[in-house]
Amino acid sequence: MRDINERDKVSDPNYSFSQQHLIGLKDYSADDIRFVLEQAAYFREVLNRPVPKLPTLRDKTIVNLFYENSTRTRISFELAQKRMGADVINFSSSSSSVKKGESLKDTIRNIESMKIDMVVVRHESPGVPHFLRRCVDAAIINAGDGAHEHPTQALLDMFSMQQVKGPIKGQKIVIIGDILHSRVVRSNIIGLTKLGAEVMVCGPKTMMPLFVNELGVTVSHNLEECLAWCDVAMALRIQLERQKGGLFPSIREYHEKFGIKMKHLEKYPEMTIMHPGPINRGVEMDSDVADSDRAIILNQVTNGLAVRMAVLYLLSGRRDLG
Ligand code: CP
Repeated sequence: MRDINERDKVSDPNYSFSQQHLIGLKDYSADDIRFVLEQAAYFREVLNRPVPKLPTLRDKTIVNLFYENSTRTRISFELAQKRMGADVINFSSSSSSVKKGESLKDTIRNIESMKIDMVVVRHESPGVPHFLRRCVDAAIINAGDGAHEHPTQALLDMFSMQQVKGPIKGQKIVIIGDILHSRVVRSNIIGLTKLGAEVMVCGPKTMMPLFVNELGVTVSHNLEECLAWCDVAMALRIQLERQKGGLFPSIREYHEKFGIKMKHLEKYPEMTIMHPGPINRGVEMDSDVADSDRAIILNQVTNGLAVRMAVLYLLSGRRDLG
């Protein structure tokens, strides 16, 4: 584990955080990202205290608007909000008036009428957080919108990389899997390249966007080549529901060509393994790899709580931490 001083630092001495929403990392400068990560380091330390709570958001009301399934992101946001003393409302589309035909705009405007300060939204359609920002005055936080962005996931991934490898600048990161459909990869590419990492993407040609190298990354279809090069290998979930689309011949063949195996951990002893979850064990990686001490998958989840506390704190407008 790296010392807190071995992290990326805000570079502009006159910097001040002025963002009001978190729709995507595309809207955040390199210093905005560094600043969130610095604040997250503070909250990560709070989580180690005997009473891991700070009542900073006790006068805030936050609604978690999840139109799509989630385990990690939903629980992490809710826990972060409760650790900070906010009033929390959880909305699930399956038990709401959405089922009676109420539109997204009417839903959010009705919710805001109950004096909501912040909205955390996950939706299967790209652009929904952006749309909500135009409909209401509350701060909007994107918890994943279709294949567009998942900014808090990328922030927690960068935080976790810093924790193990030090500053992001100059790190070599390979992201392996379904690059075409992944919002996690999009946010990571944006964030990592802003902070000066070298990023490679690796996967079958059928899962690679046409103009992906225009995002400032190198493309490879050869796992061995990528693992020999990288400091960190991040595997993405293969969306088995898309298998009907014939994007690769079989799960067995995908694992053979792109799955991380124990032999890779032995061959590349400095390589760190990450995965945003949920994992398909035996597909993206061997089960033993996921459970090994080289994989920081559960640390990513813990760090996600600190990162989300930092994001909530900063977007609440509060600046009164010690
Ligand atoms: N990584 C991630 O977004 O997981 P969930 O879908 O469980 O929230």
